Amino acid sequence: MMQPAHGGNLAWAANLVGCSPSAIVDFSASISPLGPPHSVLAAMESQMVNLRHYPDPNYSELRLALSHFHQIPPEWILPGNGSAELLTLAGRELAELATTVLITPGFGDYYRALRAYNANIQEFSLVDECAGWSAALSTFPGLHTSLSFPPKSPQTSGLLVNNPHNPTGKLFLGSQIIPYLKKFALVVVDEAFMDFLPPEEEQSLIGFVQDYPNLVILRSLTKFYSLPGLRLGYAIAHPNRLKRWQLWRDPWSVNTLAATAAMIAIEDGDFQRQTWAWLPPARDELFQGLTKIKGLQPLPSAANFLLIKSQISGKKLQFQLLQQYKILIRDCLSFPELGDRFFRVAVRTPVDNQLLLTALSNIIEPFSSE
Ligand SMILES: Cc1ncc(COP(=O)(O)O)c(C=O)c1O
Repeated sequence: MMQPAHGGNLAWAANLVGCSPSAIVDFSASISPLGPPHSVLAAMESQMVNLRHYPDPNYSELRLALSHFHQIPPEWILPGNGSAELLTLAGRELAELATTVLITPGFGDYYRALRAYNANIQEFSLVDECAGWSAALSTFPGLHTSLSFPPKSPQTSGLLVNNPHNPTGKLFLGSQIIPYLKKFALVVVDEAFMDFLPPEEEQSLIGFVQDYPNLVILRSLTKFYSLPGLRLGYAIAHPNRLKRWQLWRDPWSVNTLAATAAMIAIEDGDFQRQTWAWLPPARDELFQGLTKIKGLQPLPSAANFLLIKSQISGKKLQFQLLQQYKILIRDCLSFPELGDRFFRVAVRTPVDNQLLLTALSNIIEPFSSE
């Protein structure tokens, strides 16, 4: 089996160590450990009977629910089969421009979506490559990081940004992205992890979509609500653009159960509050625990995952954690600027996080006493 380029490939990990996928504690995919919400599972169960019908091709009810949730008219919202589907459609639009500026290290699927349509990619690294990675860590001293680069002919170019940024966990302030809306022909902001921030801390640009027809926001419901297997996301953008996207894709790409799950999930205030209460202390505790392990340096994160600089090969740690503890972490080999000296972990429950810390200490201790 091929080395996975995404987190969450339990089949690959289970095959490697000869166990069942369910035996693996997955820190490699950045999915909330609290869900799926009971409300969602119950609603899906009640919809089984409707599987004999096609879904509404316009998803009017779901669009209305999302419209109330975000205070934006329904025609500005397009549900998708995960935000990955909508990313592919955004990739097709970006490919029509002279070039697309991509902030790196970047989520691997951005390359897939852009290359599928032969887009011209201009990478812009958040890391000062000349200064090397120790200086790079000081580029990310706090939660926020700056976004400043001199775009080449932005009037004919697109920009693809991820906020909060995967894999660093950094949060751009909305005010840092807004100036680029005035410069670039098209700006796509992937806010797949934005819902992990409580409303008063979010830096979403959804409120600006109606002022900027060149702005596209992508949102995912798979991470916050633990539904990656269901596939569920939506785009928020100008209605003309979304109508065009609908003509480009298959009909009914969101199935009946996923559409129901989305409507119920966004209404589940208890689950949302529970998540916002769980994340900051669980993340802090994991962060502090990691800093105490010799040779590991986690980066402060606004999201539900931590990027960690490691003096020991990330690949070696991944293999030993899998073999000895059935714990799967995300190596960073698919991010060229990060390579083998970094790995990424999701924040899970305090019990699981402690399991990871103990396992990492046990593996790393013999190395550090060498
Ligand atoms: C930054 C980012 N955007 C989008 C996605 C795709 O999410 P979805 O499950 O909604 O397709 C992922 C999944 O890992 C991601 O990390």
